[in-house]
Amino acid sequence: LERWRVAVLPGDGIGPEVTAQAVRVLEAVAAHRGVALEVREGLIGGAAYDAVGRPLPDETLDLCRASDAVFLGAVGGPKWGALPADKRPEAALLGLRKALGLYANLRPVTPFDALLPASPLKSAYLAGANVLIVRELTGGLYFGEKRRTRTPEGEEEAVDTLVYRTSEIERVVRRAFELARGRRKRVTSVDKANVLESSRLWREVATRVAAEYPDVELEHLLVDAFAMQLILNPRRFDVVVTENLFGDILSDEAAVLTGSIGMLPSASLADGRFGLYEPVHGSAPDIAGEDRANPLAAILSVALMLRHTFGDEAAAAAVEDAVKRVLESGVRTIDLAEPGDPVVGTKAMGDRVVAALEAALVK
Ligand code: NAD
Ligand code: IPM
Ligand code: MN
Repeated sequence: LERWRVAVLPGDGIGPEVTAQAVRVLEAVAAHRGVALEVREGLIGGAAYDAVGRPLPDETLDLCRASDAVFLGAVGGPKWGALPADKRPEAALLGLRKALGLYANLRPVTPFDALLPASPLKSAYLAGANVLIVRELTGGLYFGEKRRTRTPEGEEEAVDTLVYRTSEIERVVRRAFELARGRRKRVTSVDKANVLESSRLWREVATRVAAEYPDVELEHLLVDAFAMQLILNPRRFDVVVTENLFGDILSDEAAVLTGSIGMLPSASLADGRFGLYEPVHGSAPDIAGEDRANPLAAILSVALMLRHTFGDEAAAAAVEDAVKRVLESGVRTIDLAEPGDPVVGTKAMGDRVVAALEAALVK
């Protein structure tokens, strides 16, 4: 593409702070490539609710649909915590994922060597770990029927439903196998098939899909056992595919391997090249507005955009390499800093990455 149309939705809390740094990186790449970058900003989350009374305005959805890719900062915060479910900032994110058909959420977990000491886990177990979590994103517990009722005794009761149909499982598992083919050719399907009927279907479908990929090995693990293995022996995993809520929880756990939740990027993909790119972390209200947030998860999400939407593997690798070199130089945002490390703010970390990137691109 000679024109990159990107919808940018900064959102709430640290969302706008990390988004600003991610956009600078994208601009640097586009300028170097001679590509016309069209960045259009939209409202989402609490910021949209405050401005127009709805967390996901139609204009925002239209903007996303008219774009090649979407970049999203983060949504949510205590200010909007008491709103009814459909007005909450988080409803906008879920609505966007569903409306855009973004069923496959890729969350690569690749600890940088320079950050091994930043993790509380032993470096010897982390070095070389490279796990790709593929989280189902438009079904499962998040999107099943929800309701409040009263029991015959008059007690209040709440219901969330975990529903999956075969086609929903099939497409995300197939995506996981396709991705595994370009990696170490192992898929771990994570479920709770010893208890949940939806997991028994998940396991059956995964087994059936695996037959189409004789070159890729499939293993099934129960989610509780996987949660432990991920910490005990992360290097045994390659691609991990799992239900929506399991994937949400396991990816925050996996962030511990990288040293900080501020390091995990994500790509949410539909069929084809369209995608939404966002850091895995939230709006971090506890540090918002203080220039303390780590922008690297957001910047690494730009690398995923370059790779998955714009098909520019060289640019994606250049961004990842710029991050690597900045970390090797020793500078850290506060979430990663150890005693004695030079600490920089959000914007200064963005400066370092852009400088490292430009130095590499010029060569
Ligand atoms: P969070 O990820 O926002 O923060 C958890 C902890 O990690 C906090 O201590 C925070 O300061 C820290 N942290 C997060 N990102 C960081 C970064 N880039 N640099 C440094 N430190 C960082 O999770 P939470 O506190 O459970 O949720 C806060 C709000 O964000 C909630 O409203 C939640 O719904 C929302 N949320 C949104 C998204 C999203 O937009 N994709 C994701 C997760 C949570
Ligand atoms: C994430 C977030 C969201 C999720 C919330 C904010 C709805 O935690 O993207 O991981 O649960 O999917
Ligand atoms: Mn989450």
